[in-house]
Amino acid sequence: MATSCLVCTGPVTQFLDLGRQPLSDAFPAPGDDLSREYFFRLALGQCSTCTMVQLLEVPPAERMFHQTYPYRSAGSAVMREHFARVAELLLDGRTDPFVVEIGSNDGTFLRTAAERGVRHLGVDPSGDAALEAAARGVRVRVDFFTEPLARHVLAEHGPADVVFSANTVSHDPNVNSILRGVAALLAPDGVFVFEDPYLGSVLANTAFDQIIDEHVLFFSARSVVGLLHRAGLELVDVERLPVHGGQIRFTAAHTGARPAAAAVDELLAEEDALGVHRMSRLREFAARTADRRRALVALLRRLRAEGARVVGYGATAKSATVANYCGLGPELVSAVIDATPAKQGRLTPGTHIPVLPPEAFGPGTADYALLFAWNHAEEIMAKERAFAEAGGRWVRYVPEVSVD
Ligand code: TMP
Repeated sequence: MATSCLVCTGPVTQFLDLGRQPLSDAFPAPGDDLSREYFFRLALGQCSTCTMVQLLEVPPAERMFHQTYPYRSAGSAVMREHFARVAELLLDGRTDPFVVEIGSNDGTFLRTAAERGVRHLGVDPSGDAALEAAARGVRVRVDFFTEPLARHVLAEHGPADVVFSANTVSHDPNVNSILRGVAALLAPDGVFVFEDPYLGSVLANTAFDQIIDEHVLFFSARSVVGLLHRAGLELVDVERLPVHGGQIRFTAAHTGARPAAAAVDELLAEEDALGVHRMSRLREFAARTADRRRALVALLRRLRAEGARVVGYGATAKSATVANYCGLGPELVSAVIDATPAKQGRLTPGTHIPVLPPEAFGPGTADYALLFAWNHAEEIMAKERAFAEAGGRWVRYVPEVSVD
């Protein structure tokens, strides 16, 4: 199946199909009419012109990102520290900067700017998240960041010295509009810094659960060079990040405004050497994904046959992909534990497993915990040490299916 590329309209060739999937952050309430749940086909392909790896079918952005979008950046202590460090890095050494964040969520990044009295503006379509940001002193415009919106912000506040975005640029099928907006808003010597899942890490770790409705594009240095170029921007630095199981921070500027760091050419060469853009590599990843499903389903069926109690840990967006692709319902995973109040008391998307608060988990409550939030493994295992100490075992499926 071929469709046209969201970035350059070139032909996109499919290499992975994860089947019929619900929206990954749409948690129905127990009383909801479950027959009305929205489903789409989750499949991944690559553009043979610009190399961008992308979803073949993208649900409407307004269905995914809206007033009551439940994800909160502040839900992880590691991420809170991460964003505080990035904010300090970007703010230090600037006099009276104006900082804009695309996808400001609950203000976890911009709170550092707010606390320092730095001029800032977040842009985010979730009104609920914006209220939490406001409680942290962060100003948010509740909207999608697009080129017209960026021009309004420019007219009202002047050019931005820093535009930051985490896990948002890769989430929006209107990515060209975002980038044209950034180019319009950015001061001549400004920087645009964005962090997103990295294609190279997804392939290396067989992290097939990074493929969700919201992850519309999977960036590599090569594909991002082309994406930025279309908007008159240039990639000037790259840094691999350990957070969320393997992300990348791209730093861009107006074309010709800043010299590019050696890291850009180094990563481009590394991607070529590893064959990150080769269809054969992408198909190998698809084959390993199918292997992980077989191994995980076999393990969970064996545990059920042995009478073991299995719960999931972390009602992550990623868990929707795993559970729906592998057919994991309440008979295999009796509950999913999550600390996010907006998810608790609800059901997991598509598979309808009850989501319970961490208080429902602990020594003796389960024999095995399937770690859906594997990207927060250290933080969660430290918090839930008593579970393992009482003989509970953690089950993982990235990079391999394993029992700790
Ligand atoms: P994420 O992988 O997309 O960041 O989602 C992590 C999910 O896991 C989110 O719903 C919050 C939840 N979570 C916990 O329940 N406890 C924790 O300690 C952490 C770090 C996350």
